[in-house]
Amino acid sequence: MNEQKPIPIEQQIASLPPLPITVANVLTVTNNPDSSANDLVKAILPDQTMCIAVLKIANSVLYGRPKKVSSLETAVVVLGFQEVQNIVLAKAAVQAFQPIFKTNKEAMAAFWDHSFTCGLAARIVGEHINLPSGQFFVAGLLHDIGKLAMLLAFDKRYDPSKWLSGISTMERQKEERQAFAISHEIVGSRLLQRWQFPDNLVTALQYHHTPGNAEKLQGYPLVIQLADFLAHMYTLPDRPNEQTLKAALTTYLPDFEKQWQMMHLPWEDITLEEWFAWLKVDRDNGSGILDILAL
Ligand SMILES: [Fe+2]
Ligand SMILES: [Fe+2]
Repeated sequence: MNEQKPIPIEQQIASLPPLPITVANVLTVTNNPDSSANDLVKAILPDQTMCIAVLKIANSVLYGRPKKVSSLETAVVVLGFQEVQNIVLAKAAVQAFQPIFKTNKEAMAAFWDHSFTCGLAARIVGEHINLPSGQFFVAGLLHDIGKLAMLLAFDKRYDPSKWLSGISTMERQKEERQAFAISHEIVGSRLLQRWQFPDNLVTALQYHHTPGNAEKLQGYPLVIQLADFLAHMYTLPDRPNEQTLKAALTTYLPDFEKQWQMMHLPWEDITLEEWFAWLKVDRDNGSGILDILAL
């Protein structure tokens, strides 16, 4: 009977590998308003893999620089502190789960594809509303990362083909809690807390299916909830129009519009179809980014 007992959350999280020291160093520098670009360069320089990732992303089509960025110093200046922090957090978190990439190839590819689309959608939504949007990409990219920790912790009991993909409807969330006595949102947020990621990312993950329950920073999970929805719609064979998108939003997230308005965010002006078109452009331009993060 013992194996039926849920593994305590602390044990699950603690069994995951810690993030490279570069992450802590970069967070220290980026959280200090007195830091210089040189301090940030020094924090990343010892980590060859991270240097290459920052440079490659600085040169990717998504960031559309007219001139090639050839040094880390220039990359830090052109991208800015926030974007460099985003790249470092995203890469470290994606890489932490490298060991399960090979064993669950197909499910993992689909998982990261959805997560990446969600990250790009979150960035687009964030840019159009009144919230500092710097970290929306990372929040979207990592929104379901708790599922990967659960895959590791619950091993054979956690079927990746069932739990890693698909829309998290209310029924499915309930089923997940019944089966594992914990939800992927809680696991994900605890994981980010352990890694000492910024508060808005922790909140975004913890409440991405229940933004109304967040005590503070409610806008962040709300944006991720919408981005998650858009990313799921993105996989439809036919491109949906405004009416189809709004109808599907009402079906899957009946409280969404009310919560959006409670946050005093503009609803009448939002055009899901337009955001969808942006998403297509960003997906095309950012096609190589996921590989850079995963390598
Ligand atoms: Fe989720
Ligand atoms: Fe999702």
